[in-house]
Amino acid sequence: MATTEITISPEEVKASSGTERVPDPCIVVIFGASGDLTKKKLLPALYHLEQGGLLPEKFAVVGVARRPLTDEFAKDMREGILSGGGVEDGDSKLDEFIAKVNYHAMNFDDADGYTKLKALLETLDKKYGTNGGRLFYLATAPGYFAEIVHQLGAHGMAKPEKGTVRVIIEKPFGHDLQSARELNDDVNQVLSEDQIFRIDHYLGKETVQNILVFRFANGIFEPIWNRNFIDHVQITAAENIGIEGRGPFYEKAGALRDVVQNHVMELLSFVAMEPPVSFGAAPIRTEKIKVWKAIQSIPLEDTARGQYSAGTIEGKPVIGYRQEDRVDPASNTETFAALRLEIENWRWAGVPFYLRAGKRLAKRATEITIQFKQPPLLLFKDTNGSGKCDEIQPNIISMRIQPNDGISLRFAAKVPGPTMQSCPVNMDFNYATAFGVSSANGYERLLLDAMLGDATLFAHRDGVEATWALMTPILEGWAATPPKDFPNYVAGSWGPKTSDALLARDGRKWRQQ
Ligand code: BG6
Repeated sequence: MATTEITISPEEVKASSGTERVPDPCIVVIFGASGDLTKKKLLPALYHLEQGGLLPEKFAVVGVARRPLTDEFAKDMREGILSGGGVEDGDSKLDEFIAKVNYHAMNFDDADGYTKLKALLETLDKKYGTNGGRLFYLATAPGYFAEIVHQLGAHGMAKPEKGTVRVIIEKPFGHDLQSARELNDDVNQVLSEDQIFRIDHYLGKETVQNILVFRFANGIFEPIWNRNFIDHVQITAAENIGIEGRGPFYEKAGALRDVVQNHVMELLSFVAMEPPVSFGAAPIRTEKIKVWKAIQSIPLEDTARGQYSAGTIEGKPVIGYRQEDRVDPASNTETFAALRLEIENWRWAGVPFYLRAGKRLAKRATEITIQFKQPPLLLFKDTNGSGKCDEIQPNIISMRIQPNDGISLRFAAKVPGPTMQSCPVNMDFNYATAFGVSSANGYERLLLDAMLGDATLFAHRDGVEATWALMTPILEGWAATPPKDFPNYVAGSWGPKTSDALLARDGRKWRQQ
């Protein structure tokens, strides 16, 4: 795929990415603003949008949290933006942007705090000309989501007389099917579905959106994207980081809730869905839900779970999960989960999908591997020599979501010389080389889309419930049979043996990342 010859300048990329889509004036109100997400992701993302001329001129940010911060908040946000890179200290645009960053301290269950917030927003409307437009971003602990939405409703902030109000709700959206349904019912009492934006930052990643472009904008792949040609699919979401000080959160979550129910299931739906009738919110969401609903319940024998013990990552010793801060020393929370599932529809019947996600694995690699069937007759099977060429390898399309974002196609080529020896080689597309820009973190695109009211890349009520419906029996089954072997993988490895066994049973192996 000699794609490295196609180099597109950042200006061309910007021009082709719809820069004309500038939202209406609005105030972005972030609940839970003192958390890391706001400093490390949200404010840097908003500032990158500002740099790209994608924010409305009449715009402001209000951080809302319990701590009594005032000017410190804007200072802290400035630091977050600077440490994200791509911005010079002393940049006058940054000063102008930071001048629009405000703070409001309140408890999320305090009615008086909402009355004062409303008054503040009305004052800011006059100052910045934002005209009642609101994007509320709920980045608090999940236990507050319903409360905040109710309070916004009770204080006339969910459906004001002027401007458009939209609400982004962070993950996790519920912790099982029942709680996700209840949360959906709660927020739907106050907000209409078109005001709700359930965020999954994976959908904002360029490489994730590119799965759809790769499949549906290229005539050569779609005809072979089915059970007649594909042997199986693997999705790996491997992280080498641990739980990063989030002990209390992770203890209740675990890998299945934290990453598989949302990020991994979204990746799966993009790989497996039928072509939508158009690239719009409703057609895309419809096709995604059809995929999840076609997955039969996943028996516990088709799952594997793990927890890391102390080990070594990139040459440095790291502690085990049970030794992490604010983690139960006898914790049974899984830091690794793997599943085998089948999608029972005409395209995929009989094709296994293997999914795995984990913390403290050998390296950071989120990748989708499509492994094709071997040719019916292996003509060259007797003529291979030694080393990595000693076995005929099946064709593979591998989509690297991160890092080193790109796509490669593995095929066999003749080794130069007098014998008919073949060796696997790769045709490689690399984002940074081809487009000269590295892909953004996901939040930029999603914040912009929410401001524009475009829900294509957000989860729908039915979708969230469909994925929880698949995960909940596994969670219940695991809870009913506590693991006897935890911790069962060493930090820096590729997870527990039971994960390899899931594939070995079918005569397959995880692809080496
Ligand atoms: C978050 C999870 O949703 O995704 C984290 O809560 C995880 O545990 C993160 O580390 C991974 O995101 P990314 O963009 O770094 O792959």
